[in-house]
Amino acid sequence: MMNKNLYIKTFGCQMNERDSEIIEQLLAQEGYIPTDNPGDADVILINTCSIREKAEQKVFSLLGALREEKKRNPDLIVGVAGCVAQQEGEQIRERMPHVDLVVGTQQIYRLPEMLQRLAGKVTTREIATNLESAFAIPPFQKLLKDVAPSPAPQNYRRFVTIMQGCNNFCSYCVVPGTRGREISRPLADILEEVEILVAQGIKEITLLGQNVNSYGQTNAVAGQAVTFPGLLRQVAAVGGLKRLRFTTSHPKDLTDELMRCFAEIEILCPHFHLPVQSGSDAVLKRMNRKYTIAHYLDKVESLRRYRPDIALATDIIVGFPGESEADFAATMELLESVRFHSSFSFKYSDRPHTRSAGFADKIPEEVKSQRLTAFQRRQDEISLERNIESLGNVIEVMIEDSHAAAVKARSGANQVVHLSSSPVDVYPGDLVMARINQAGKHSLKGTIMLQSTRR
Ligand code: SAH
Ligand code: SF4
Ligand code: F3S
Repeated sequence: MMNKNLYIKTFGCQMNERDSEIIEQLLAQEGYIPTDNPGDADVILINTCSIREKAEQKVFSLLGALREEKKRNPDLIVGVAGCVAQQEGEQIRERMPHVDLVVGTQQIYRLPEMLQRLAGKVTTREIATNLESAFAIPPFQKLLKDVAPSPAPQNYRRFVTIMQGCNNFCSYCVVPGTRGREISRPLADILEEVEILVAQGIKEITLLGQNVNSYGQTNAVAGQAVTFPGLLRQVAAVGGLKRLRFTTSHPKDLTDELMRCFAEIEILCPHFHLPVQSGSDAVLKRMNRKYTIAHYLDKVESLRRYRPDIALATDIIVGFPGESEADFAATMELLESVRFHSSFSFKYSDRPHTRSAGFADKIPEEVKSQRLTAFQRRQDEISLERNIESLGNVIEVMIEDSHAAAVKARSGANQVVHLSSSPVDVYPGDLVMARINQAGKHSLKGTIMLQSTRR
């Protein structure tokens, strides 16, 4: 087997990051070695995101730049994966004829054979964009057993995909189109993958899905009756796992049973990403979000009852079609009442095949920018205030990086914590207790007190 170099550029969410890892592992079996230098690559794969127009533009400008590379090296194979591949399919080649391969979100396990045919010059184009009706990733963890974990910088933590697709059809969103229908991955596969990862030394797992709250509710394996809280408890019970997280949750499906997990599962981190999108009921209705702000605030209150130190994060879209000054003021008001620890906020962007693309009363770009700036400015202040609340506290943090004098760690609440030099040797994945003595808006500083008792 001849070794070849593989360069993957990943855009978008954790789903794509996880898919890129899987691609690397699948192709490692075929003798492909990951490289950081596209100039050395035999295969360049762009794993793409289509969530906003800007994300898609980045993909096409990068592909444009690869045209020259391909002229210089005609044997180079250029491939497109991910959500733009799924959305555009064949049309990518019309715009970018130097693209050899287009692989949709649920066909990545086909990559080995597709690349074999291209490299063997059996064919000059490979396109696979079917959406499947069963969980598309075969039980690939059998493969992982024989493969050393890929040399990711953060080898102590991993994502584990538990669902694919989405059935919510928020009116602005491409994901139901690019990832297909919601399908829950078989419980046994998830547990087996977690066990293998933990045996390989992984300390922290994040369970991934577009709407993990509805795990097991739609298109699960016949005979499998397990809800998301049930799954969380079973994953948490895997011996040796130190931290558990999950993302993302839809407020409409957030049950009391799940909130209770934050009180009862020791290794579940006190951090919850609960995208609200807007503070206005009228906008939420047009977004097809299926909850009201009163409903959302109720859930926030219950979460804090179960876990007083829980840090809440959210996603916000400003400038949704028809968003009035009063609607935007309601979003600002929501920020004041919840005081999110952090948020991801975006200007609304029209996307292909979404309902809101056809809505009237589009908001001018300048207004969107003003609203985004106002929101982000206030969020930054609140994030700083939230971080200041940690001053003087002794908290458990997990080491991420321990180069020379600088030690970087992360709290359960997902804050980055920079630690002064350590009295003991620490390694990525170790839990230590740290006293917090400085707070900024994006990170904390502290000193290591002692190893955590959970080490
Ligand atoms: N499944 C997740 C989020 C997926 S997309 C969830 O439901 O929370 C991540 C975020 O991108 C969304 O929460 C939303 O805030 C933002 N987003 C999605 N479509 C968008 C669009 N057309 N314009 C602007 N932001 C968008
Ligand atoms: Fe998109 Fe809504 Fe599904 Fe999230 S829940 S992926 S925002 S359709
Ligand atoms: Fe982007 Fe697809 Fe994720 S559109 S955000 S990569 S699901």
